[in-house]
Amino acid sequence: MKKLPSADQRAFTLLGVESSCDETGVAVVAFEGGSAPRLLAHALYSQIQMHQAFGGVVPELASRDHVRRVVPLARQAMQEAGLPLSALDAVAYTQGPGLAGALLVGAGVACALAASLDRPTLAVHHLEGHLLSPFLSADPPEFPFVALLVSGGHTQLMRVDGVGRYELLGETIDDAAGEAFDKSAKVLGLGYPGGPALARLAEQGDPAAVALPRPLLHQANHDFSFAGLKTAVMLAHKKLGPLPAQQDCADLAASTEAAIVEVLVTKSLRALKASGLKRLVVAGGVGANASLRRALNEAARRRGLRVHYPELHLCTDNGAMIAMAAAMRLQAGLSVPDRSYRFDVKPRWDLASA
Ligand code: KG4
Ligand code: ZN
Repeated sequence: MKKLPSADQRAFTLLGVESSCDETGVAVVAFEGGSAPRLLAHALYSQIQMHQAFGGVVPELASRDHVRRVVPLARQAMQEAGLPLSALDAVAYTQGPGLAGALLVGAGVACALAASLDRPTLAVHHLEGHLLSPFLSADPPEFPFVALLVSGGHTQLMRVDGVGRYELLGETIDDAAGEAFDKSAKVLGLGYPGGPALARLAEQGDPAAVALPRPLLHQANHDFSFAGLKTAVMLAHKKLGPLPAQQDCADLAASTEAAIVEVLVTKSLRALKASGLKRLVVAGGVGANASLRRALNEAARRRGLRVHYPELHLCTDNGAMIAMAAAMRLQAGLSVPDRSYRFDVKPRWDLASA
């Protein structure tokens, strides 16, 4: 039986599988000793088109599509890496949080592959993948930093002192920032996923045209609330009448984006100030938003702060961030490689307890 080498002995190569929602991602990451893990290949298939017809993710369809995609994507990633499957030292997969059926596909395939190769598995927390995804960029951050995690299901501010050392500073008490984008986009009759569509429409609008609430902005905590914003957008849209002009819709989109961005920027700056840290890491799908990036960069420049982002194509779900998180946890001695090939997924899972 091949024994798992300790991280400081030799090159280590692992495959990462992501299937928590509507993207199937597989990637290969390698590291040698204590050096930073390198991404050798990553293959991704987005189910967005399939779910568009339904205006949101249909869990059963998502699971079935992961079944179809994951093995060909694994083949593609290994081919791109120029390695045979036997070169893998471990197989990592997203254990949660996410859609139970979708998670089971990735977990099942990862465990079956690992068992057939006689290699261990590594279970990864999806949000830790997002959190560590900026380490895949050309300009990786240094610890410690404040992380703003903004995805379709989560909005959190976290103090990060190292791999596995996460302290929750604040989070949304209702909707996530991505959800606010998606739900507002739905009100405006835009497609799924709403974030990119709303951002595109917002480019032609006036962000000051419609007065929208900035929930919890002036409360001296690090929490967020976006449910009220969605209701305000709905009311503002109703006022535009049954056949609103395109410019009015663009103005409402721009105002919605401005409200979300202002809250995210203000709260991030406040968390940086309170923690005395000078580095901010932005991760998760909403981190791809150009207006948010502009506002954060400008605020950071004025205050002498640094902001790090994942590469644009690695902001939304992907396998690279899962392989990267597994590699970094392994190097930090935090992950216990598992040879039981028993897997249980965790649709709900706190990062603090990971
Ligand atoms: O991290 P992610 O891919 O999936 C989750 O783990 O939730 O994030 C998806 C979310 C969706 O709500 C999507 O609308 C949003 O990220 N998003 C954006 C943009 N790109 C993706 N929101 C605003 N602007 C964007 N450019
Ligand atoms: Zn995600």
